[in-house]
Amino acid sequence: MSSNNEQSNYIENQPTEMSGINVPRHVAVIMDGNGRWAQERGLKRMEGHIAGVESLRTTIKEARKSGVQYLTVYAFSTENWGRPSEEVNGLMSLFCKCLEQESEELNKQGVKLTFIGQRDQLDDEIRQSMEKSEKLTETNNTLNLIIAFNYSARCELTSATKKIAQLLASGKIDVEQINDQLIEQNLYTFDIPDPDLIIRTSGECRLSNFLLWQAAYAEFYFTSVLWPDFDQKCWKQAMENFSQRKRRFGLVEPKL
Ligand code: IPE
Ligand code: IPE
Ligand code: MG
Repeated sequence: MSSNNEQSNYIENQPTEMSGINVPRHVAVIMDGNGRWAQERGLKRMEGHIAGVESLRTTIKEARKSGVQYLTVYAFSTENWGRPSEEVNGLMSLFCKCLEQESEELNKQGVKLTFIGQRDQLDDEIRQSMEKSEKLTETNNTLNLIIAFNYSARCELTSATKKIAQLLASGKIDVEQINDQLIEQNLYTFDIPDPDLIIRTSGECRLSNFLLWQAAYAEFYFTSVLWPDFDQKCWKQAMENFSQRKRRFGLVEPKL
């Protein structure tokens, strides 16, 4: 690789610049702390999930205003099925209700909705709601909102591995053709760029089975704020913090 190429790779991988601050193209959020927020107030855990919907509305609005192109939110993990059935059922109903209520408004705002995760384990009603809102918003382009629902990064990688194994077994590809690009093409996120910034609320500093492949070069921002308290000010702090990061992608900063 020539030094010119090295420099241009370095520059291409940097975030876009808007009004003096570097804006991440793709922000992914682990919306955590709803249960603790409710418990602190002597409320049922479901009240925390309901309160968290407002934070999601604010985040979508702020992401659009900031010029973020992709926003991925972790709404339900495959591990979350292990919670008490009252909470799981409550989360499923809340998700369905929100989709019904918010899709029109998101469409008006020009938001394109996509869901990632294992759909086949979900009720027909939820699956149909997902397909309906994806169809309704498919030509929109102000913000790509990706909702990870019944998502597991390990399941995503296992599913990609199976698809590639089938291509191999049927003779459509040979072993030499298995590379990063082929794996990416077989992930749920095949047409979505990698996240530049991953935000997790509630003080936990872990990925909890979220975007394991895609997070290879993401910047991480952990805040102790519980998700229902995550507001415009918190979003701005995360953006400012990201703006100061020096991303090298294994390279060295070119001398200007
Ligand atoms: C995140 O909040 C929402 C989901 C996982 C569905 P939690 O419900 O995990 O809240 P805490 O972590 O128990 O406070
Ligand atoms: C991760 O939060 C999943 C979502 C935010 C949907 P959890 O609360 O389920 O994760 P752990 O249990 O703290 O790792
Ligand atoms: Mg949690």
